[in-house]
Amino acid sequence: MGKMTVTKLLEKKKKGEPITMLTAYDYTFAKLVDEASIDVILVGDSLGMVILGYPSTLPVSMEDMIRHTQAVARGTTNAMVVADMPFLSYQVNEDEAVRNAGRFLQEAGAEGVKLEGGKSVAPIVKRMATAGIPVMGHLGLTPQSVHAFGGYKVQGRSEASARELLADAQALEAAGCFSIVLECVPANLGQEVSRALSIPTIGIGAGNQCDGQVLVLYDCLGLTTDLNPKFVKHFAHLREEVGKGLKQYIEEVKDRRFPSKDQSF
Ligand code: KIV
Repeated sequence: MGKMTVTKLLEKKKKGEPITMLTAYDYTFAKLVDEASIDVILVGDSLGMVILGYPSTLPVSMEDMIRHTQAVARGTTNAMVVADMPFLSYQVNEDEAVRNAGRFLQEAGAEGVKLEGGKSVAPIVKRMATAGIPVMGHLGLTPQSVHAFGGYKVQGRSEASARELLADAQALEAAGCFSIVLECVPANLGQEVSRALSIPTIGIGAGNQCDGQVLVLYDCLGLTTDLNPKFVKHFAHLREEVGKGLKQYIEEVKDRRFPSKDQSF
């Protein structure tokens, strides 16, 4: 299929072809996801919870994100690699934001960055886009604002907040975003925003009328079972598989079946 690009994603939206996106955080999984022909790999700051065991995405640093993006980029041939900008890497001032975004392209091998927020981040998006950095927006339940929201809650349920979210999406498009993630919003709002924009929306808990879908890879594969939001579907059951394999390894070591002659010199 060749390398996925911003232009090809826009063409997919025009043709009504759903865009596929998954997160990945390391070389091995990036290779698997890329070989499955995914369109976009997101190195999400969800790695704070999934990989590093933090209670939220807030402690994730630029160095964490750069290191994991480098690993994902090394494992990826065709998918477009987008890296999440971590908390406080773009909110403090515009110069720092552009420099941090640029590091993902210059040092880590990403082809775009994602940041959270609406109208308030539009000037930053404009600076990045002007510098040639493709920017993906993120609206709705933006996990870096978990404390401001008072928890992980569906957003845009009231008419006023739905209008505000649509205005935010239009501001991000005008500022130069190439795509916007819509997280945890009612399905009818996901559809309305997707129809109102000419750039693709990527939904997670935003209904099936978004221009694409994204899931956290470990949720998609059934590796995470502690947090199970309603929008997650397990497309494989790797937790059970891994558990079985580990039990068998332990048994075979204990009763000296492993290593057998086949694995011995
Ligand atoms: O960090 C992440 O993985 C994300 C996706 C869930 C959209 O932002």
